[in-house]
Amino acid sequence: MQTRTSIPMPQPHFIFHQLFESESSTYTYLIADSKTKECALIDPVVEMMDRDLKLVTELKLNLKFVLDTHVHADHITAAGLIREKTGCKIAVFEAAEVGLVDIALKDGQQLFLGDLPVEVISTPGHTKSCVSFKFQNFVFTGDTLLIRGCGRTDFQEGSSEQLYYSVHEKLFKLPDDTILYPGHDYRGHTSSTIGQEKRFNPRLNESISKDDFKKIMSDLKLANPKKIHEAVPANLASGLTSEKVLGTRSFFTSENMGIPEVTAEQVRERLGHLRSNHVRLIDVRRPDEFTGELGHIRGAELKTLGPNLLQFLESADKSEEVIFICRSGARSANATAESLARGFKFVANLNGGMMRWNQLGYPTEQQDAK
Ligand code: FE2
Repeated sequence: MQTRTSIPMPQPHFIFHQLFESESSTYTYLIADSKTKECALIDPVVEMMDRDLKLVTELKLNLKFVLDTHVHADHITAAGLIREKTGCKIAVFEAAEVGLVDIALKDGQQLFLGDLPVEVISTPGHTKSCVSFKFQNFVFTGDTLLIRGCGRTDFQEGSSEQLYYSVHEKLFKLPDDTILYPGHDYRGHTSSTIGQEKRFNPRLNESISKDDFKKIMSDLKLANPKKIHEAVPANLASGLTSEKVLGTRSFFTSENMGIPEVTAEQVRERLGHLRSNHVRLIDVRRPDEFTGELGHIRGAELKTLGPNLLQFLESADKSEEVIFICRSGARSANATAESLARGFKFVANLNGGMMRWNQLGYPTEQQDAK
């Protein structure tokens, strides 16, 4: 008599939940290692924070990370508030220049929930800093690749060419049976697969050329999301708005509403002529950026966007001259606007930030802030 022995297959030991926010049609995902109970939330929405944290508690999970796929323009991330409540770490792609992050993610980096890796795949195009996260047989694509669609590419330094590359050269290189979970869906879909999108995505299926795709995207002519002027500035501060940490209501005002700006050339000239440096240079980046590749301007003081900057704004003499500095000029525009709102009179934003300063070959320093 023959007996059959079956080879025991290893059981997957992960937990997965898909959650939905109906106003912005945003999906939030909870992923976890069921052995160690370590979990992450991907793209949580501030209005739904209590629901998400309740689920984490009910499942007796330990929230290790909040992962944002990009700086959202249509809703405010719950990342900052969730960290306040749980002590988790916020991880966002390094190019996003989000203030207050704990982990500035790099392409190919792996974070771990127990022994289960979450892999970071840089997929710019919808915005310059979009990432997708690969976990088990799932890929969380944010707004890079949607089910039968894709995110727009007409603001936040988006690029249809980059998006095409990200989808075809990165996401479509994943196995066809990889299950795709997008950041949004507006038609009731919940998931797809890489193989299905290769065949059926009307914008990005394999028969559509890059030029055709660029034309499709440039012909869209979409209105801005309703919340963009609120959401983008808040999300650059991990979703923490003015009462909590820093009012960044003015992200767009550096160009549109007259925030005073100075060029790198003007700052260099001014500093060169002064015997005593009575202009305060306030650098609002993270400490690792201050001492990193781009360095900082001699004499700059590190006041990272967030509580550190707030403390400065509360205690400094409002008649002082201050120039705010960051990597590209976006975060420092927020800081400049906030200082004006608090009564500072002689402030300006360094246009182009340390990127411009470095492009011009001006001297920098790298040592730690004192
Ligand atoms: Fe988006």
